[in-house]
Amino acid sequence: MHFELTEEHRAVQEAARDFAKNELLPGVIQRDIESRFPVEEIKKMGELGFMGMMIEPKYNGGGMDTVSYVIAMEELSKIDASASVVMSVNNSLVCWGIERYASEAQKEKYLKPLASGQKLGAFALSEPEAGSDATSQKTEAKLEGDYYVLNGTKNWITNGSQADIYLIFAQTDHSKGHKGISVFFVEKGWEGFTSGHKEDKLGIRASDTTSLMFTDVKVPIENRIGEEGFGFIYAMETLNGGRIGIAAQALGIAAGAYEFALAYSKERKTFGKPISQHQSIQFKLADMATSIEAARLLVYKAAWLKDQGEDYSHASAMAKLYASQVAMDVSIEAVQIHGGYGYVREYHVERLMRDAKITQIYEGTSEIQKIVISRGILR
Ligand code: CAA
Repeated sequence: MHFELTEEHRAVQEAARDFAKNELLPGVIQRDIESRFPVEEIKKMGELGFMGMMIEPKYNGGGMDTVSYVIAMEELSKIDASASVVMSVNNSLVCWGIERYASEAQKEKYLKPLASGQKLGAFALSEPEAGSDATSQKTEAKLEGDYYVLNGTKNWITNGSQADIYLIFAQTDHSKGHKGISVFFVEKGWEGFTSGHKEDKLGIRASDTTSLMFTDVKVPIENRIGEEGFGFIYAMETLNGGRIGIAAQALGIAAGAYEFALAYSKERKTFGKPISQHQSIQFKLADMATSIEAARLLVYKAAWLKDQGEDYSHASAMAKLYASQVAMDVSIEAVQIHGGYGYVREYHVERLMRDAKITQIYEGTSEIQKIVISRGILR
């Protein structure tokens, strides 16, 4: 058993850490205030290879393992969880499934620009009445000759108005339940396809979350991925990996909040000494560091299992369930250690506390993770 990072992993960590400090940190507060998407920053992340890390180089990806990906996600999320969710969706929910299940022609057309970061992807499964209950899709795609005609609405879509290429899940046969759901590539700008209202969110405010509307959108038959009816399994398999990315994001939020609090505790003095010298603060720091380390082990283990080709579905759910709780607990404590300063934007921890909450909601709520875990245990 090896707990050490390889040289390649350390290089990824350093590159991500530098990028977070030099490129993300300077504007992160203002982007949060203005709910402004990090357009330039995401472009640079593409140039540095962060947008298709696990994809083979022949499709313009980085050819790296999942452990490298979670290391990068952790470092970037310490500073900017809005930028890191854009990266996570593009890597895990968009590129990974395309490489695994799409045809060569589809990979040539769609994966190459997505993995290089020239284009941005979105994954549209959720609907107004189909979030956790993902089988209850109402969006439908009706085959008419060489085209499907797509009608419906998607909700809570990350990169909703910013993406170029969308993976859309839709019913192709209502009578078959989840076996009647299919998945399609849809491009921005197609007639009848619009993105709607941008959500005004508690956290990850600089990321873009919108609804999507489809009115008689013509989708060529060759834009379906796999067979008709394969969409639900495609979504479930993709979300298993996506949850590792969000677990790494949660880990990063916790680790970032902890690092800010640790540094502050050494500078801030009360009763004649740095607050880090008070046992009440030391106990907090000890609990925070311990839970972060435990979360990191779960996240890295899930990534490692995926890299070994082992079943990682319930390991990824465990990692997300635990790391997202740690993100909440640690970020709240980080605000507490900062006292009044923790309650203002300048000190970063209030933002991380707001960002933490979504990790318990998206890509499956904590309750969904418990369903996945218990099914894995009882199987
Ligand atoms: N991995 C692989 N396959 C799975 C699976 C998993 N984790 N969970 C279910 N399946 C398969 C089952 O084996 C079954 O396959 P067969 O038809 O071959 O037997 C099929 O899926 C249907 O399974 P169930 O009958 O168990 O389905 P269910 O209706 O009970 O739902 C669920 C299972 C786990 C609750 C699932 O609906 C689920 O994961 N819901 C949450 C959806 C979700 O995470 N949405 C997030 C949206 S994406 C997002 O947030 C992205 C973003 O923008 C950040």
